[in-house]
Amino acid sequence: MHSVDQRGNQRLLKRWGAALTAVLLLMLSGCAGKNQRAAEPSLLLGFSQLGSESSWRIGNTRDIEEKASEYGISLMMENANQKQENQIAALRRFIAYRVDVIAFSPIVEEGWDNVLKEAKQAGIPVVLVDRTIQTEEEGLYVCLIGADFYQEGVKAAQYLIRKANRMGKKQLNIVEITGTEDSTPMRRRHEGFMDTIQEDGRLNVLESVNGDFLKSRGAECMRYLLDKYGAEIDVIYSHNDEMTLGALPEIEKAGFTPGKDMVIISIDGGQEAIDILKEGKINCIVECTPMLGATLMETALKLKAGEAVEPLTHPEEKMFSDEDDLSHLVPRGY
Ligand code: AHR
Repeated sequence: MHSVDQRGNQRLLKRWGAALTAVLLLMLSGCAGKNQRAAEPSLLLGFSQLGSESSWRIGNTRDIEEKASEYGISLMMENANQKQENQIAALRRFIAYRVDVIAFSPIVEEGWDNVLKEAKQAGIPVVLVDRTIQTEEEGLYVCLIGADFYQEGVKAAQYLIRKANRMGKKQLNIVEITGTEDSTPMRRRHEGFMDTIQEDGRLNVLESVNGDFLKSRGAECMRYLLDKYGAEIDVIYSHNDEMTLGALPEIEKAGFTPGKDMVIISIDGGQEAIDILKEGKINCIVECTPMLGATLMETALKLKAGEAVEPLTHPEEKMFSDEDDLSHLVPRGY
């Protein structure tokens, strides 16, 4: 009989076995013969993914795995299944294993100081991917590679102001379905949106509810909002495609046509949502790209080589809406 801990350790050993084999092969190829070029120094990257809550997240995990293999980097990937304690435990395993670089996508902003102090003491540089954190002490991570979530909220609001002009209405009632409580995209997408609409007297937020970036919660939130406000709702601002995909069938079941009776604004730009935007049931999608893998690999290689890295890298992001010609959009890849 194996204890849960033993089974967990066995699984971990299996997963990391592949990474270790890659490292050994690189070392052996370096000793293969006098005339052969020595192998490039290998790099061991520990990455803690926060979960699998959305097609965005799944696309992000896939991109990081593919780019690690393209760049010849050994990757130890751990999935925390939406739990901060699992992420902290994964970071501690990376430290114990003495990886060259640690990267992680923090599920929430607070609560990382202790484990990051341990990484600092061990001399392992830490890269934040996708989301940021708040720490009491400076210098607990080297850099952040991720979207400008505040600007995403601003873009969503700017679209709505243009839409309100076209609709010619005196008042538009908005409901907001937000992402995971205390996460960076939840906080900044809300702030960017609110700061931008506050000057416009026509735009009125009825309520913000938390949908945790999940399709099932998007549906639940929408049912609650429809029960409470019904036809009063003019606009739904949803913090990600997954929650939007959960909300849309509920709107239809309640007898409304999304995209016509209610303006639908979403964030991410995954293929499924883009197809629905083309059908006219979503009005606007602000892009948030999950393709952060190449920048992460380049950053990790620089850190291993002792080179300076950019403290902040935002990817370029677009918008897709009923204002655009969408006929030439290339497949999204997530
Ligand atoms: O942090 C990025 C956000 O997290 C994406 O918008 C969302 O889909 C994901 O779950």
